[in-house]
Amino acid sequence: MKKFKRYLVTSALPYANGPVHIGHLAGVYIPSDIYTRYLRLRGEDVISVCGSDEHGVPITIKARQEGVTPQDIVDKYHNIIKKAFEGLGMSFDIYSRTSSPVHHRTASDFFRTLYDKGVFTEQTTMQYYDEEAGQFLADRYIMGTCPHCQNDRAYGDQCEKCGSSLAATDLINPRSTITGSVPVMRETRHWYLPLDRYEEFLRKWILEGHKEWKVNVYGQCKSWLDLGLQPRAVSRDLDWGIPVPVEGAEGKVLYVWFDAPIGYISATKELTPDWEKYWKSEDTKMVHFIGKDNIVFHCIVFPSMLKAHGGYILPENVPANEFLNLEGDKISTSRNWAVWLHEYLEEFPGKQDVLRYVLCANAPETKDNDFTWKDFQARNNNELVAVLGNFVNRALVLTDKYFGGAVPAAGALTDYDRDTLGELPALKKSLEENIENYRFREALKDAMGIARLGNKYLADTEPWKVVKSDPERVATILNVALQITANLAIAVEPFMPFTAAKILDMLAVEKLGWEKLGTADILPAGHRIGKAELLFEKIEDSVIERQLQKLADTKRANQEREASKKVTEQKESVSFDDFQRMDIRVSTILAAEKVAKTKKLLKLTVDTGIDRREIVSGIAEYYTPEELVGRQVLVLVNLEPRELKGILSRGMILMGEDALGKLVLLSPSAAVNSGATVG
Ligand code: 2FM
Ligand code: ZN
Repeated sequence: MKKFKRYLVTSALPYANGPVHIGHLAGVYIPSDIYTRYLRLRGEDVISVCGSDEHGVPITIKARQEGVTPQDIVDKYHNIIKKAFEGLGMSFDIYSRTSSPVHHRTASDFFRTLYDKGVFTEQTTMQYYDEEAGQFLADRYIMGTCPHCQNDRAYGDQCEKCGSSLAATDLINPRSTITGSVPVMRETRHWYLPLDRYEEFLRKWILEGHKEWKVNVYGQCKSWLDLGLQPRAVSRDLDWGIPVPVEGAEGKVLYVWFDAPIGYISATKELTPDWEKYWKSEDTKMVHFIGKDNIVFHCIVFPSMLKAHGGYILPENVPANEFLNLEGDKISTSRNWAVWLHEYLEEFPGKQDVLRYVLCANAPETKDNDFTWKDFQARNNNELVAVLGNFVNRALVLTDKYFGGAVPAAGALTDYDRDTLGELPALKKSLEENIENYRFREALKDAMGIARLGNKYLADTEPWKVVKSDPERVATILNVALQITANLAIAVEPFMPFTAAKILDMLAVEKLGWEKLGTADILPAGHRIGKAELLFEKIEDSVIERQLQKLADTKRANQEREASKKVTEQKESVSFDDFQRMDIRVSTILAAEKVAKTKKLLKLTVDTGIDRREIVSGIAEYYTPEELVGRQVLVLVNLEPRELKGILSRGMILMGEDALGKLVLLSPSAAVNSGATVG
């Protein structure tokens, strides 16, 4: 295997149109941070770059919805995401953003180089145009029925229900998401990256040269290549993004998926003047950490761009993960079905490593996986508290108790001691192989294997019993236990950096290098350790129930929103004469009071223009009597009188009612005389 001199680790740039959730963390950011921290601990030359992806249609749509500018949206979410990543201990060397001037220049120059080399083809095509909004409808600005699964809310670039990648013209019954109107076709001109011309190179590079890539990644690349690649438009008619840097391209910007991966280059440029050695030397190993929905862009499109440009290296690996679900349901930003990182950090202060641990232990490495709060609790209580925390605590507390906090010198080792310590190098080797092959779940098991080894060692050797009869033996036992603890501090650092720092602090040692892992003489006899503190605490049922309740509230709110969108079917036809027989009048409410012993009823005195009369109406849940006095409403005045709770109700106030039974009064849009007829 080729030995590299340095590493460039990239993590997918999150869209700055929403906060980061556990799905993003498990899929991309936790693995990339483990990998980077591991390489740093080994003393490798490594940089890790990331930043916010601040262009693209969803951002402009969100801005429109909220009545703010796209810049407001990206500023808001960039800051939320950046702060949350820092809170979780993500160790990017730079967290940049694609609105930065360096990025605009870099992406613009990149496009221009390809343009000057004649790489692009230009095509004039017919595209959907919203005449009301006066703009072309790219990607998410258009919605319609998916031709594959009949989902009637599929977007112009993708159906989120069946996952098909779509062109806007594939949609059945297309409509504009800006105005809801039916779009027309209009001519527009765009630049295309002719991916078909790179097929040969991609086949060789991936299918022959990278058989070691993860099965899901290799498989997706193979199906794309087997289907045959088509030219892809790399510009859009939009007013948010990086302007296409050629003449006659007014009103056009670079497609977000053209500029975003170049963001990795811009971020490196911002980080170091020495950026070229990371991007242009074959001695650099570049690894892209992404989610499965980004595979085509990182394995097919971006490499073709790099190849077309020339002078850049290609990724050595693209370890994409599958998706994480939440309590059996797909994580969704629009349905608020997620555990948001910034909220977790607020609600679970000091528990960053618990989340890091659970998301790694349960990462969707080979298939989609499920996050449940019960599993989160179980892993914390049964693994972090009972195994890792318990072992470290016992080793330190016993040392304090029997040896006043000084590392005791080991006497002669027994076979059992030697066997126990002998397992450390094997665990180290396995851990290294697993991380280097992107099997982070297995690697975490290896690290935890050291804690299990220590726990078993203390349980088997029982120093608390031996101390009375053989204190010298206890010195050896605790020396061994403390060396295992020091090993743990190194092994868990890539996964749980806060915990590693705490263990080091308790052991009163500075950072330990990776080369010490697997050895049994890290702590010299006589070294004074610090005070033992609990590494983890039990998570009670009530805490988990609160989180489950939060999700149940979200689910109910979603169901209510969905239900309120439904409309009842049209009733049977009535004749014009039937309609004419109804006498509806504009009336003014003169007085209103609650009907005693009822929750829903109000007694209203209304001026119908014909007379003053009393009407009982079931709107007490929606309006207070004070709100009603003086309001004009519509009243069916010739409805047969009916007695309700001892009051003779003469007429009916007309109201709108949604599918959930919520009522609203209907009023004339301008004041008219009471008694005006309606029809
Ligand atoms: O899927 C996403 O969230 C994209 N914003 C990822 C971009 S990765 C890279 F190319 F910048
Ligand atoms: Zn579909």
